[in-house]
Amino acid sequence: MQPEVKSVPFLDLSSQYRGLEAEWFDAIRATGARGSFILGPNVQAFEQEFAEYVGVKHAIGVANGTDSLILSLRALGVGPGDEVITTPWTFFASAETVSLVGATPVFADIRPDTFCLDPESVEKCVTPRTKAILPVHIFGHAADMDAIMQIARERKLVVMEDCAQSFGARSGGRVTGAIGDAGSFSFYPTKVLGCYGDGGMITTNRDDLNEHIRRLRNHGAVRPFVHTEIGMNSRLDEIQAALLRLKLRGIDQDIAARRSVAAEYTRRFAGTPVRAPVALAPDAHSYNLFTVRLPKRDAVREAFVQAQIGHSLCYPQGLHLQDVYRHLGYKPGSLPVTEQASSEVLSLPVYPGMPAGHIARVCDVVRGVVG
Ligand SMILES: Cc1ncc(COP(=O)(O)O)c(C=O)c1O
Repeated sequence: MQPEVKSVPFLDLSSQYRGLEAEWFDAIRATGARGSFILGPNVQAFEQEFAEYVGVKHAIGVANGTDSLILSLRALGVGPGDEVITTPWTFFASAETVSLVGATPVFADIRPDTFCLDPESVEKCVTPRTKAILPVHIFGHAADMDAIMQIARERKLVVMEDCAQSFGARSGGRVTGAIGDAGSFSFYPTKVLGCYGDGGMITTNRDDLNEHIRRLRNHGAVRPFVHTEIGMNSRLDEIQAALLRLKLRGIDQDIAARRSVAAEYTRRFAGTPVRAPVALAPDAHSYNLFTVRLPKRDAVREAFVQAQIGHSLCYPQGLHLQDVYRHLGYKPGSLPVTEQASSEVLSLPVYPGMPAGHIARVCDVVRGVVG
């Protein structure tokens, strides 16, 4: 007889799906019966509900998180000749979109505790060409927005928050996405608020940005067949919006469940060499990822493979050292806090409803390697 293999998934999307399936299918059937598939009532209602949750005037549904960055940067007037200060410790899209609009990403270093942009390093990167700061609330921890907004005010810069990983996290009591000029969200399935396909949202309190982004997401059209600028086809899908409305209702419980998984890991790692993620305030982290720093990281990774424990290496390299950005002139040692993080981190399984036995198993395997 084969021994029982107790594998631990990195996340389990299907159990949550089963709980939503009946209501979602009812909504899909209603959409079909109505025949209203593009920018229909679910997108409109979800935009309103999302804006209320985040605490902003406007929310604009788009096709994915990458487009939400492109469209916001364009609406903010970021383009060729401009520099955008951002973090190298993020998914590629945060910097890729700066390049896509023709601007240049300038990488500041990160704080060692939260992995988010270090305001002191940001300050040092400002030049006469700087147009924007693009903080990323990485892994679900809110960046230090008070300090970043102060730099922006003093230097007359715009601030574009990348909230793809931080739905519901707060900085100084305000929900991420409600603090800068605009906030960009992804509904990629693994996100805190994820859909079952692609989707994205832009938040803003600025009426001018709202109007401009709504035009840009729909081919730059001011009315049917009248185009005043080059836009895109980037609209949130009606069927995904119907699902996201259902998920938004339970999101506070989901975030609370992620926080209790994080608390249990943190309790179990106390007194070991494992450095669990820091939350600077109880509401600062929504734990899209639970990323620890470890001695013997690669040995732990190997032990996870043997034990069939899902994990992710976010991120193996700062974006400043990616080949595609070689022309920007960064070298190993340019951003030491980021580079140290990339040699030490590992992201452990975390999702609402993660069984206590799985948390215990992950911790046992880690402790078996690091002591
Ligand atoms: C920090 C960050 N920004 C942007 C994106 C892009 O979002 P999407 O995959 O929806 O295009 C992601 C997605 O993983 C992300 O993690």
